[in-house]
Amino acid sequence: MSLLYTILFFFLICTCSAESADPLGEFCNKGTNISNGGKLSANIDKLLGELVQKIPLSFFVSTSYGKGQDQVYGLAQCRGDVSTEDCSTCIEDAAKQIRQRCPNQADARIWYDFCFLRYNSKSFAGEVDTSFGIFYFNVENVTDPEDFNKKLGALMGEIREEAIVANNKGLGKGKSELTPFVTLYALVQCTRDLPELGCAQCLAIAVSNFPTFCNNRKGCRVLYSSCYVRYELYPFFFPLDSNKAELSNTVMAIVYP
Ligand SMILES: *[C@@H]1O[C@H](CO)[C@@H](O)[C@H](O)[C@H]1NC(C)=O
Ligand SMILES: *[C@@H]1O[C@H](CO)[C@@H](O)[C@H](O)[C@H]1NC(C)=O
Repeated sequence: MSLLYTILFFFLICTCSAESADPLGEFCNKGTNISNGGKLSANIDKLLGELVQKIPLSFFVSTSYGKGQDQVYGLAQCRGDVSTEDCSTCIEDAAKQIRQRCPNQADARIWYDFCFLRYNSKSFAGEVDTSFGIFYFNVENVTDPEDFNKKLGALMGEIREEAIVANNKGLGKGKSELTPFVTLYALVQCTRDLPELGCAQCLAIAVSNFPTFCNNRKGCRVLYSSCYVRYELYPFFFPLDSNKAELSNTVMAIVYP
């Protein structure tokens, strides 16, 4: 390698590793603008540092930083099926991006496929929150809606039951053969601050949106602050169903109701 290329090579590595991945979406609560002067903003940075540091240990951190008016509560969680490395990278990205995207809000939330992060100057742990949702759906429709919806309903029922079993840490996932050639994959994940009932409630609300946002769609995602629900006609959760791994790049439409 010539010197020029070597320099260029290192330059590329540096710029790449300094970048963080785009989220699926974020929510900056405009009603919670931070007034100048307080320590809240500095405390948010401290809190984010703690979330990033602690996340690899258990994939879930719920904590607070600071005192009195400047106290901030935070939650970070990874999807239960991802690797520790993917989990850490995801929360690092989330911590960078949330401050860039919501620089002046005391209540901010950010969604990725592998993780979720939020903070607020008000405590929120244990509360089901479906006040703000992001919906992604595949623009393509299934060819046999009747059979599809029956099997989707059955699979969702199974994995929702799985998610509320304490040992499963809010995660439920599974697959269902629609035909010998087509398999349906689905995953649900509650935030781990929720009690069983709260998890069940969040998932029920998420799934109740299917007729509106996911009707007969080949894939769909519902992103709430308390739970995540997704189904696809290709493998997307880990361990990957590798003999069927054929990631679909279909355009997804997004709605923020
Ligand atoms: C918060 O700040 C945003 C952008 O700076 C502004 O549009 C909005 O009106 C503010 N909201 C309140 C409640 O002050
Ligand atoms: C899928 O169905 C919806 C609603 O029935 C329709 O608006 C849309 O155009 C269909 N998508 C495709 C790719 O045909």
